[in-house]
Amino acid sequence: MASKIAIIGTGYVGLTTGACLSHLGHSVVCADVVPEKVDALSRGEVPILEAGLDELVHEGLSSGQLRFVLGAENAVGDAEFVFLCVPTPQSDDGSADLSYIEAAAEQIGPHLQPETIVINKSTVPVGSTRVVERALGRGDVHVVSNPEFLREGSAVHDFLNPDRVVIGADDQSAAIRVAGMYLGLAAPLQVTDPASAEIIKYASNAFLATKISYVNAIAALCEAVGADVNDVVLGMGYDKRIGNAFLRPGPGWGGSCFPKDSRALVKIAEEAGYDFGLLRGVIDVNEEQFERVADKVRRLAGGDLSGKRIAAWGLTFKARTDDLRESPSLEILRRLRALGATVRAHDPAVRAAHADPRLEGIEVVDDPYAACEDAEVLVVLTEWDEFKWHDFDKVAGLMAGRRVLDARNLLERSALKRRGFEYEGIGRG
Ligand code: UDX
Ligand code: UDX
Repeated sequence: MASKIAIIGTGYVGLTTGACLSHLGHSVVCADVVPEKVDALSRGEVPILEAGLDELVHEGLSSGQLRFVLGAENAVGDAEFVFLCVPTPQSDDGSADLSYIEAAAEQIGPHLQPETIVINKSTVPVGSTRVVERALGRGDVHVVSNPEFLREGSAVHDFLNPDRVVIGADDQSAAIRVAGMYLGLAAPLQVTDPASAEIIKYASNAFLATKISYVNAIAALCEAVGADVNDVVLGMGYDKRIGNAFLRPGPGWGGSCFPKDSRALVKIAEEAGYDFGLLRGVIDVNEEQFERVADKVRRLAGGDLSGKRIAAWGLTFKARTDDLRESPSLEILRRLRALGATVRAHDPAVRAAHADPRLEGIEVVDDPYAACEDAEVLVVLTEWDEFKWHDFDKVAGLMAGRRVLDARNLLERSALKRRGFEYEGIGRG
């Protein structure tokens, strides 16, 4: 059955959620506080890189099922469901900052119809449904937790093909109404209490981060004993209990979720009287990985980076997104610059003209080869597929030294060695 839905916040999560729900046949109004964003989206211009999202936004705009408005209060007047998709950034002490969520709830409270269901989609700590209930100031509406499990870059696919839909509600009839919105999707549906739903989200992200830190630690061990982590991971992944997903070694994990969610979960545990030492270790291994990669570049460059030029391919926190939030790549380049290196970088999703304070001190170029001119070392930091197919004869001719640090184990090692490159990956002897 088609529902009337409002989405508050049109970022990666809100926009994907809104566009996918309109694709499923619902009538969706998305609100944001940034006028330029609302105008652009109303014209069908999608400000983020997300596979398949442009098509769904166009589809929704032309069918009239999807609209964009300025101001949360203007979206919720006749909504049966309101999704809160505003940011929940990390505050100074590591906990999640709920001020945007609370402000949005206070703003929409007076405008809601009775029996409306307000849904926390943003990642929020345990107890946030209560916080939202209080901020709404209404006794006649419901608050439900329905966490997102969308990977940037494949968020549309993940929304339409979920591994599960989790609904955390105290009220069974509210849970059933929320489930009705997802009837078009073939996915297991889990109804639980709000606290459990909130923990499912944190526990899932922290577990995935744990897998990656674990494999990065195994990679360090492989280097020390002369084993090849790619073969080790292949052998581990055949075991169905382990699986092969999220075991790619790399420069460490980043993005808008893992860093803040893992720190927030440590904090949630601390406040509840449990010392989550395991997860603190996972975070420590990740910080060490940034340092390990930076140190590998330093050693490849001959031990001293001062005055040396480094080429970098990849600035985003992973491939197929334009998102720079908490990117391991930027963290590693910051460390290289602190050691005296000059960095020229290329990323298929970050244009040279892109002005962003996070890129300060890095010369961004649109051409991958231009990044390599006079560089002592080329460091590959995100796993963009196209990096594999660049002309390495040309790269060799441009660089001051033929040295590659492949922090994603992406490139063809033998092809590089044939061209006289000194090649180093992660965890490969
Ligand atoms: C969201 C959640 O906020 C985060 O908790 C979760 O872990 C990941 O998903 P994301 O969609 O990636 O984050 O955030 P962002 O791309 O920054 O989008 C947030 C949007 O909300 C922006 O368009 C912003 O303009 C808008 N916004 C922000 C509001 O509409 N109102 C506000 O008060 C604040
Ligand atoms: C994550 C969750 O996967 C998703 O369910 C949702 O909760 C939002 O947060 P996202 O942040 O988009 O998604 O990225 P993800 O694909 O999970 O990757 C996170 C980080 O881990 C990236 O820096 C990525 O490069 C790294 N990673 C991932 C690895 O280093 N190795 C892997 O095997 C997988």
